[in-house]
Amino acid sequence: MSEFLDTLARNALFKFDPETAHGLSIKALKSGLVPGCRRDLDNRLAVEVAGMTFPNPLGMAAGYDKNAELATPLSKLGFGFVEVGTLTPRAQDGNPKPRIFRLPSNRAVINRLGFNNRGHAAALENLSGQKRAGILGINIGANKDAEDRIGDYVAGISAFADIASYFTVNVSSPNTPGLRNLQTREALSELLTRVLAERDRCAGKIPVFLKIAPDLTEPDLNDIAAECLAQKLDGLIVSNTTLSREGLGDDAGKNEAGGLSGRPVFERSTIVLAKMRQRLGADMPLIGVGGVESAETAAEKMRAGADLVQIYTGFIYGGPLLPRRILRGLSKICDREKLKRLHDLRDIRTAHYASLPIPA
Ligand SMILES: Cc1cc2nc3c(=O)[nH]c(=O)nc-3n(C[C@H](O)[C@H](O)[C@H](O)COP(=O)(O)O)c2cc1C
Repeated sequence: MSEFLDTLARNALFKFDPETAHGLSIKALKSGLVPGCRRDLDNRLAVEVAGMTFPNPLGMAAGYDKNAELATPLSKLGFGFVEVGTLTPRAQDGNPKPRIFRLPSNRAVINRLGFNNRGHAAALENLSGQKRAGILGINIGANKDAEDRIGDYVAGISAFADIASYFTVNVSSPNTPGLRNLQTREALSELLTRVLAERDRCAGKIPVFLKIAPDLTEPDLNDIAAECLAQKLDGLIVSNTTLSREGLGDDAGKNEAGGLSGRPVFERSTIVLAKMRQRLGADMPLIGVGGVESAETAAEKMRAGADLVQIYTGFIYGGPLLPRRILRGLSKICDREKLKRLHDLRDIRTAHYASLPIPA
């Protein structure tokens, strides 16, 4: 697909409300209307994390492919891995529409979807119809009306044990009331104990990652890090969307309720990432998410401590050619900085970001 067609398609999509545009982009990807790109393999971008070999460190974040329909077409766009979900055991509609809002002058989005998805069984069926393409993350959550929330996460592990490359336990969506309380030490301890016991029981060595919010205090980070280390968790994803509305100027959508993503969340999520790298040590796999929109922002996440990065909002604004552009840019960074492996960038600026306060 040429840059011209890419821009044309994106401008057309932006004429629709964001959720309709999202649905259209899913249809286009599913139908093959967006042609896959040739995979330019640059071995310097490959990285081994949690026992998996990633062809490159750029992943699609959870929330774009809620029902696991697009793992194959997304990996054809260049992504080194695709995380689908968040999936809950039973289908649920989520919050009333409208519930996604663009903030174009900030290259940002606010969403309050509330885990709309068609449930485990439908996702399993969707996945069974796809040729397995690359590394597949299954992001699991709890139904809004679950009687045993932790039981819903446990059910996610058993449902996808035969197909997941890794699991993400999402306790950081701001749009399911009370969900973020699972990040407190006592609740997290019970959650991880039960989830990891189920993983050991039925899913062998499949890595389990925890996805956290960027709206945490230093003592919260201490608690989460201590629990992750105590339970020998396989990795952490930092971060989900923020409830903060700092520095948005007078963008019309900024007063909508929900989680903010995109450019304004870059600094906050990168600071929290670096603080967690310092607390968790060099060996814990970390995935940096929040405001990645270019090769330079992806590389900066790695300099702050990330082994891998993910994007979502950057893809909405950047379009289907963005993953390829980012990968080409990462190769150029390897040339410029004479790196044998891109991963050698990791931690160069961890101390800097970790020294900054988490913004209000
Ligand atoms: C519309 C929308 C829906 C999302 N849904 C989910 C979700 O279901 N589960 C999840 O873990 N994160 C979800 N996220 C959060 C993203 O995965 C990501 O953590 C966050 O948006 C920050 O990255 P970004 O700035 O690249 O978008 C969603 C984000 C957006 C914009």
